[in-house]
Amino acid sequence: MSRTQATRMDPWYNVYADRALGMLQSEVRSLFAVASRPEVVSLAGGMPNIAGLPLDFLANMMAKLVREHGTAALQYGGGQGEESLREMIAEVMRPDGIHGHPDDITITTGSQQALDLITEIFINPGDVILAEALSYVGALGTFRTYQASVVHVPLDANGLIPEALESTIVKLEAEGRPIKFLYTIPNFHNPAGVSLSAERRPQIVEICQRHHVLIVEDNPYGLLGFDGDPLPALQSLNPDGVVYLGSFSKTFAPGFRIGWALAPSAVSARITLANENAILCPNKFGQLAIAEYLRTYDWYGQISSYRTMYRSRGEAMQNALSKYLPMCQWNTPTGGFYTWVKLPGGLDAHAMLPRAVTHLVAYVSGTAFYADGQGGDHMRLSFCYPTEEQIIEGVRRLGEVVSAEAELAELFGTDHEQRDISANDAPRD
Ligand SMILES: Cc1ncc(COP(=O)(O)O)c(C=O)c1O
Repeated sequence: MSRTQATRMDPWYNVYADRALGMLQSEVRSLFAVASRPEVVSLAGGMPNIAGLPLDFLANMMAKLVREHGTAALQYGGGQGEESLREMIAEVMRPDGIHGHPDDITITTGSQQALDLITEIFINPGDVILAEALSYVGALGTFRTYQASVVHVPLDANGLIPEALESTIVKLEAEGRPIKFLYTIPNFHNPAGVSLSAERRPQIVEICQRHHVLIVEDNPYGLLGFDGDPLPALQSLNPDGVVYLGSFSKTFAPGFRIGWALAPSAVSARITLANENAILCPNKFGQLAIAEYLRTYDWYGQISSYRTMYRSRGEAMQNALSKYLPMCQWNTPTGGFYTWVKLPGGLDAHAMLPRAVTHLVAYVSGTAFYADGQGGDHMRLSFCYPTEEQIIEGVRRLGEVVSAEAELAELFGTDHEQRDISANDAPRD
């Protein structure tokens, strides 16, 4: 049993708030301990490969920061975050076509905290959030904590489907269920690996504008396209209707835990208030270090080298999939960290996972990425952290696991079928 699982043996069980009992350990984190064993090839986590960071440069830069500005850098700061970093962030968002003002940016503890603050300021229990079917597991966890009702909208190879968005909104309006916001990851989606096409971007913005639905655009991977800069952000198409979330976790270093939210001014003021309530101020040393890095280092060149590295790893995964998992289907990502793989013939990714880990390879079951238990026929494979050799070996092992599982299913039926049979056999009443 996980440490956080609710249990009546806990003398405080009846004292917890409802929201605490609704918190579940994410499938990704549950896997972390096993998947980090050295003999296991983990295709599960979304950790960036930061081996290419200029560590000597950063060590000198941070030593200088402490020596020359230590009493300021190690002091409390403002709840909105440091102006010097907010100004640099305005530059970092330019490739997305964004012309946001530093005053409308709030610095947060990773974009995960920005998600938390947005949900806190907009969601009462039972309120509707629209999210792509499938969606980022960390966002779903936050939405669950605030007792939101997540309604999924399907996506395909070109991202969120505008017609499906419109019909879902119309249906919810007819049911009298107001929608608080649409949560979307338009670039190199986690976990689907797809991007919202250029044609659909204005359509999504227009539909939301017409129905007065706020968009929360989560974009931690936008600069990690294999072939260049991203398509224009949704924020650039309607700055008054979009809260844009950015992060330095995937493009620089997640250990700093620095992300941000750019929002229409009134929303931004509330995000800052919520930030102060939650943490007083974001990590000041981390903010000043990142601002200095952006000011004095070729950060964009660094990102370009990441693109090349992730492209090679992504290609290694594609080739390995063709060789070792021809019985599966998958997409070909054009950036980011993830490939979304469909298992053949009713195999269940969740049930297969312990067998895969015993076979020294880990992935995340598709069920982690839906609020309603779908996704069992898919798995997310990450190509960001393992080396190309590890990726090939991991996919080879997975090929053996899937083949063995398919053979068993042919002999004895799939887990689903077995469950159906035992349900039918169960004595009535
Ligand atoms: C889509 C998405 N949003 C947000 C985050 C959170 O990132 P961080 O809090 O490190 O900025 C992640 C991390 O994996 C992610 O994939």
